[in-house]
Amino acid sequence: MAGEESLERLQRILSAAGVSSRRAAEQYILDGRVSVNGKVVNQLGAKADLSVDEIKVDGKPLRPQTPRYVMLNKPHGYIATTSDERGRRTVMDLVPARERLYPVGRLDRDTEGLLLLTNDGLVAHRIMHPSFGLEKEYEVLTPAPPPAQVLAHLRAGVQIENRLVTPSEARVLRQTDRGAILRVTLHEGMNHVVRRMMDALEIQVISLTRTRVGPLTVRGLPVGAHRDLRAGELGSLFEALNIDDETSLSPASDIKTSTGTDTRRKPRTQRGRP
Ligand code: URA
Repeated sequence: MAGEESLERLQRILSAAGVSSRRAAEQYILDGRVSVNGKVVNQLGAKADLSVDEIKVDGKPLRPQTPRYVMLNKPHGYIATTSDERGRRTVMDLVPARERLYPVGRLDRDTEGLLLLTNDGLVAHRIMHPSFGLEKEYEVLTPAPPPAQVLAHLRAGVQIENRLVTPSEARVLRQTDRGAILRVTLHEGMNHVVRRMMDALEIQVISLTRTRVGPLTVRGLPVGAHRDLRAGELGSLFEALNIDDETSLSPASDIKTSTGTDTRRKPRTQRGRP
């Protein structure tokens, strides 16, 4: 969950997404038509965070009026947040946008690589939610290849906060003149998870780069640069997240008149999910 500053009143979120006027949105809430992360919210004081919460109206996920999905190759030294109370540089300094974008998930200040920014809470929520099991691939630069038994331990899993975190892949990719590159692929979204695993195994981290999130790779995008996702990338991402456009509440949709009709299609089964 992001900080308090990203919480907004539910009726404001609904009206900003183009669902209705704020007054009508209040009525939706009072009528029990709005849910946050699967729980009906029928009180007006409720707040939510569009960057992490899945908000539904009449069972349909809320989507922004003008959805945007931007891939940033984050340099180190930038904080993955929309604003920093200490005035430090944030990723928003690198991605000027008319839309209210926010970064999806955590990437440490000193971690480089793929960071997605969007105003689509459904996509953000599902990328971060462990039940969707989206793989995140990291490259760790370390002075020398770890000994075989350390690699074996890494592959068998590392205990972090009473949980065994087991990579789906952990191997030395190549040797460079700065050290060895170790690839670690995880389904985890815990804070500092890769650094904590490396710490536990006494593998020194010179630098950490996220190279892939699900079907998206940062290959070809210079450090510090950003671009909108291509149609094909968006299609693969939606497929991985089991998002079908017709299952969501699209902007200016017929929500006000749709109470009797359900145009939802059955969601597709995600490949590789139980
Ligand atoms: N794991 C980390 O340790 N840091 C990140 O930024 C991402 C994953």
